[in-house]
Amino acid sequence: MEIDPVIREWLRLAAQAPSSHNTQPWRFRVDRAGVEVWTDPARSLPVNDSTGRERIISCGCAVLNLRVAAAADGQGLNVRPEQAGDGPFVRLLTGHQGGPDRQELAPLRDGIGARHSWRGRFRPDAPAPDIIATLVQAARQEGAWLRPVTDPECCGEVADLVRGATAAQWKNPAWRRELAHWMRAPSHGDGLPVGRLSGGLTRWSVRHLVSARAMARGEARAARAAPVLLALGTGIEGPMQWLTAGQALQRVLLEAARHGLCARYLNQPIQQAEWRPKLAERLGGGQPQLLFALGRPYGTPHPTPRRPLDEMLKR
Ligand SMILES: Cc1cc2nc3c(=O)[nH]c(=O)nc-3n(C[C@H](O)[C@H](O)[C@H](O)COP(=O)(O)O)c2cc1C
Repeated sequence: MEIDPVIREWLRLAAQAPSSHNTQPWRFRVDRAGVEVWTDPARSLPVNDSTGRERIISCGCAVLNLRVAAAADGQGLNVRPEQAGDGPFVRLLTGHQGGPDRQELAPLRDGIGARHSWRGRFRPDAPAPDIIATLVQAARQEGAWLRPVTDPECCGEVADLVRGATAAQWKNPAWRRELAHWMRAPSHGDGLPVGRLSGGLTRWSVRHLVSARAMARGEARAARAAPVLLALGTGIEGPMQWLTAGQALQRVLLEAARHGLCARYLNQPIQQAEWRPKLAERLGGGQPQLLFALGRPYGTPHPTPRRPLDEMLKR
């Protein structure tokens, strides 16, 4: 079936979503009723994300982008998460009214191209309280919670968890190998971009040279220096909640992008199963799904590559 150019553009925008290690673990199926977003198990990260939680969160981010793209074109979508044998997927049926959701999502359209992840330093100024309140509300509208970690003592404790979990990750040779595997020249269209000539050396140092202690110290410092440290989570745990978390994350990030704000992820205590309950306890309960610093970057974030759309289509 030839895909309508309008829907093709929605899919292009959906694929601008963030994903762990830029794996782009989504597949799109288009038929007369609308679009389906499926996860792609072939693009999983068995060490970093053994349960597929982040893979499904990433697909949730793509779903939100699709909803925003349709809303900006004045189209409502009926969004139906469904459970299939190999995980959840989302049906987005076209030709609906859309209601208030459509009016609220449409202005986020420009944020899709403006949003980028950041791994460098932030300017010290914290986002204004009314911006934070908008972000908290954005997560709530998607059925998730967003908690700013503002108490200095709690912030210090969370930074200590980031340090411990980062050290554990970097002490695991399999985790290092998996990260190095996803470090690629931009021409690959996926993964974490490294120079075409220097990439081999970068991958070798990720596998063998980088000091776990130095990484841990650096990540803890980033948590402590965050203009604002934010945790996003759900009430309970499960694949449907991961889809919710992904849509909430992307709604928060697109709102943030409108104010020139970027996220630096500090997910390590969530990615490591044994550290997650400790983080949940410090945050006051619930299921933390993402932890990130948010601020205005020093410098300009570079866009990361995406694969050709045809590679993301499910026949
Ligand atoms: C669920 C999820 C988890 C992520 N975890 C991390 C992380 O632990 N560390 C990190 O530096 N980036 C993390 N990222 C950011 C991705 O690396 C980033 O989205 C990807 O490289 C694409 O780049 P972009 O966000 O600038 O488009 C995560 C993104 C998602 C959606």
